[in-house]
Amino acid sequence: MTQAPHPLPDSPATPLETPKWLRELWYFALPSRALKAGAMLAKTMLGEPMLLARDQSGKVFALRDICPHRGIPLSCGRFDGTEVECRYHGWRFDAAGTCTAIPSLVDDQAVDVGRIGVRTYAVAEAQGNIWVYFGDADDTLPEVPSAPGFEAGDQRHVETMVFSGALDHAVVGLMDPAHGPYVHRSWWWRTKASMHAKAKAFAPSPLGFQMVRHTPSSNSLAYKVLGGKPETEITFRLPSIRIESIAAGRHRFVGITAVTPVDDSSCEVNQIMYWTMPWLTWLKPVLRPFIQTFLRQDRDIVAMQQAGLRHDPRLMLIDDADTQAKWYFGLKREFARSRAEKREFINPVKARTLRWRS
Ligand code: FES
Ligand SMILES: [Fe+2]
Repeated sequence: MTQAPHPLPDSPATPLETPKWLRELWYFALPSRALKAGAMLAKTMLGEPMLLARDQSGKVFALRDICPHRGIPLSCGRFDGTEVECRYHGWRFDAAGTCTAIPSLVDDQAVDVGRIGVRTYAVAEAQGNIWVYFGDADDTLPEVPSAPGFEAGDQRHVETMVFSGALDHAVVGLMDPAHGPYVHRSWWWRTKASMHAKAKAFAPSPLGFQMVRHTPSSNSLAYKVLGGKPETEITFRLPSIRIESIAAGRHRFVGITAVTPVDDSSCEVNQIMYWTMPWLTWLKPVLRPFIQTFLRQDRDIVAMQQAGLRHDPRLMLIDDADTQAKWYFGLKREFARSRAEKREFINPVKARTLRWRS
């Protein structure tokens, strides 16, 4: 007996037909404390080799990590706190990417070394985070993502994990409200039995959307620990930044989840946390394994998903549980279009209430 094949899902155009990575936006590079004065490090972001360095005065700069002479990564060389010296032939470059010396030249060889340069990237440092801008030198830089209410304070903790999956799948996985009871099934967070219907109000917000301020569901044990009646607000903004802000009594907690593509098949997820509760700082060593477990659950599900995605299946996004994912792709498309047409970005998200069980 043969079984009738399942009909093809009635799905919109494959969501991944949007541009892979958006440019003209800030991407999280690393926490400030990972880069000491006089140090440099190499990192791949959006498929581009990047050298990040902090000069002696404390200023961070970013160069394309390829020597214009013969292509060796500049990060293989030395950094004296002012200039980077290439390991191969000792050419030197300053923070503006300008060549300052070619040691092999003899006195009468007039080469204008200042006309040789490597590409630089705009860098912003705020609230203990280093962001890199991917765009052109003459762009008007957009606002740097920030943790509301923590304008002067550094972050309390950053957890970094590499996900083996393309950016879109990691982002959609992180904003997906329906995976909680299945992926994060831990006694201290959610159980399948605790699932119930939810209705959350959403509204457009700059470059994204927001789950408007509300009291979180009672099945989140972790929220109860905060004390007072907690109120939470979750914002998503392009390119791939989620900001959860919880106010409980006189205390605040903000978690920024920033996803930065490394290359076509991997991305780095950074969970950056701010809080005002002193007891949470004392508890940090105890809490860290929980944070890691939570993030690993998301990482592992994205890794498992790759086995199926390798066959390029048609995918589905259903209402309302996947509406945020639909918005994400819509936002990406509109952002890319608005840049290509050199016009204002028009947020395609309309305010509405989404309902799902989780
Ligand atoms: S390759 Fe860098 S100086 Fe020659
Ligand atoms: Fe998750």
